[in-house]
Amino acid sequence: MALWNDTLSSKNKKYIMSLFSKHISKGQTKTMRAAHLDFIETRRNGIGFIDGMFGRHIIDCFTSAGCFNVGRGNSEIIAALCAALQKYDIGTNLLPSNSKKKFIKKLQAIAPGDCKGIIFASGGGDAIDCAIKLARGATGRKKIIAMKKAYHGHTGYSLSANGKDYYRHLFEPLDPHFAFVQFGDIEAVKQIAGIDTAAIILEPVQGEGGIFVGDDYYLKSLRTVCNQFGIMLIFDEIQTGFGRTGKLFASQHSGVVPDIMVLAKSISGGIFPNAVVMYRTTPLLNNYVKSNHDFHQSITGGSDLGCAVGSAVIDYMVKNRLWENAAKMGAIIIDGLLTIQHENPTIIKEIRGRGLMIGVEYTHEYMGALMADSLARHGIFAIYSGNQPQVMRFMVPITISEQEVQKMLSIVQKAIATMKLYLPLTKPLSKIPILSRLLDDIHIQITVFDIVRYCEDILGITKRNYSKEA
Ligand SMILES: Cc1ncc(COP(=O)(O)O)c(C=O)c1O
Repeated sequence: MALWNDTLSSKNKKYIMSLFSKHISKGQTKTMRAAHLDFIETRRNGIGFIDGMFGRHIIDCFTSAGCFNVGRGNSEIIAALCAALQKYDIGTNLLPSNSKKKFIKKLQAIAPGDCKGIIFASGGGDAIDCAIKLARGATGRKKIIAMKKAYHGHTGYSLSANGKDYYRHLFEPLDPHFAFVQFGDIEAVKQIAGIDTAAIILEPVQGEGGIFVGDDYYLKSLRTVCNQFGIMLIFDEIQTGFGRTGKLFASQHSGVVPDIMVLAKSISGGIFPNAVVMYRTTPLLNNYVKSNHDFHQSITGGSDLGCAVGSAVIDYMVKNRLWENAAKMGAIIIDGLLTIQHENPTIIKEIRGRGLMIGVEYTHEYMGALMADSLARHGIFAIYSGNQPQVMRFMVPITISEQEVQKMLSIVQKAIATMKLYLPLTKPLSKIPILSRLLDDIHIQITVFDIVRYCEDILGITKRNYSKEA
């Protein structure tokens, strides 16, 4: 008996989509459908998943922005969860256990420098909140310096640390003690950092902001400023951690040890959620945590199941030295993309990134949406950056093989060819400022794509060019 039914019946597909549209988010369902991103994930496998809409394998270049570093549905991690379920439930957050002990030891063994203190959290945003509370509590200061375009989550302090109005405006006034500077601009930091500053928070490679790599000079200079004024340096490694950039943690490229490091997403191999805040075991931070042991609490963070899975993830990463694969495959992808850029200079403006955290910047903002659509038609799930729509993120699982890289690059080439079909129409429009603004408007893009999709569906020509094999 087949365990999986990879292609859903059309009745079931329609039902799932209408259920989502009605009860989860009409806007999201419509947006995804309009751009041919209306996949229904059935079986997850290696670097992608099977789309229940058409029963085809889709390469996952989004990976929920770095959740699936060890691959989709990794069987070793699933086996670890199954074994843990024989013994454990989530456990009691106030009590120690063998599962927690093992995970703590493994995390400490791979942690950069003396960043060995651990606080559990339930997810990325919650862990960022914890990091900011820790920095404020330990220093007794309020001011936080964060980066323009940064994305740190949708919870309390993490929302305040986001550097884009798009995420903030509905909830203003947010915490007024956050000041924002341009990512990479050390002089701007020097101008506002001082003895009133509790923390500087940043992603060592800005992800949602459009894939900007913090270079060694910048990160080292931030460390110096923090040392000078007793400021806590917080690295949000939620996307960059666990091998993504070619080292286990992105901080290891520069050798800068942050005071506080935040990990989530790939910590759980995409199998069972978990998150941690790791902090340097300095007297200041140690004493604060010791005297305020319950300053951050989570029932589900650091659960026995999450810790068992986390231990398996670390074992898998270390055994396979996955960060080295990320560095090697990342270099091949960047090379391939540079060749594609060379052939298409009017479409691709810049390729940047580190390891398998790669951004492709198109020459026009509207091309982000067009490429997401073209890639989806050909079998790649990739979306553009929330804070920089003309940058598409390629964050494929870091287990990817060279053969899969070549397949992925050939799909990108095909997708560009498909996208070019639209250009005779869009290029002249983009030269007229008012029309260019309309082209870049996400609501207009959705409406236009929606009409195209509607016509395709009516005519029965919804096109899917991607291959069948997984
Ligand atoms: C860099 C970064 N920080 C924080 C978060 C928030 O994590 P979560 O969605 O688990 O709350 C994300 C999620 O996309 C992220 O990419």
